[in-house]
Amino acid sequence: MKYFILFGPPGAGKGTQAGAMVERYNLCHLSTGELLRAEISSKTPLGLQAKSLIEAGNLVPDSVVEGMIESKFHETKGVDGFLLDGFPRTITQAQSLDEMLSKVSESVTGCISIMIPDSLIHERIAHRAHIEGRADDARAEVVQNRIVTYHAKTEPLIDFYRKAGKYYEIDGTGTIDEVRERIFTAMDKL
Ligand code: AP5
Ligand code: MG
Repeated sequence: MKYFILFGPPGAGKGTQAGAMVERYNLCHLSTGELLRAEISSKTPLGLQAKSLIEAGNLVPDSVVEGMIESKFHETKGVDGFLLDGFPRTITQAQSLDEMLSKVSESVTGCISIMIPDSLIHERIAHRAHIEGRADDARAEVVQNRIVTYHAKTEPLIDFYRKAGKYYEIDGTGTIDEVRERIFTAMDKL
């Protein structure tokens, strides 16, 4: 099985590129953001717990997303691997992913990192706010907090995967097609 991490700041294009990636490599797309938004709209206890954190642009507790990912690993059949979009997002989550995978004699295949400058994040999220109506896209201060949280808690993962020899950085600027081709060029070799 392949275990790809789809990494990048808010608005980098993770969700946009995921569809083509899962199709080409027969992967199951697991977006912790999408799973959490589904819990919120179904008003589950987990969704109620996560709602205020997400709408303020803060991370939900590590244990919450770790549990969601591990249960999806167990219940998903018929794929050649997983595309983890937005997970891990802290060093603790990365260590716990390593533990989950080592229990089944597997390991992370590669961290595909879509990089864009902070200025472009604001532009892309402002554009999406009109289309998708995501609660955490609506207010500039929440978007700013997501960016600050990304730099403080998530960016250290770049070094974590670089040291493991598993970090593949993709230039996320340019058109959607251009970014997709860069991703395929990197992933075809993995
Ligand atoms: P999540 O849903 O993961 O949000 P995010 O990381 O902030 O990333 P986005 O979904 O905003 O960006 P994206 O990279 O998918 O961009 P997209 O492709 O849509 O997480 C939401 C929240 O859930 C978190 O803040 C946190 O609270 C919680 N959470 C989730 N995972 C967690 C975890 N592991 N631990 C703890 N908490 C967690 O693109 C954006 C826009 O740009 C779109 O409109 C798109 O059309 C456009 N676009 C994309 N590419 C291009 C291009 N090349 N050119 C022009 N436009 C483009
Ligand atoms: Mg997304």
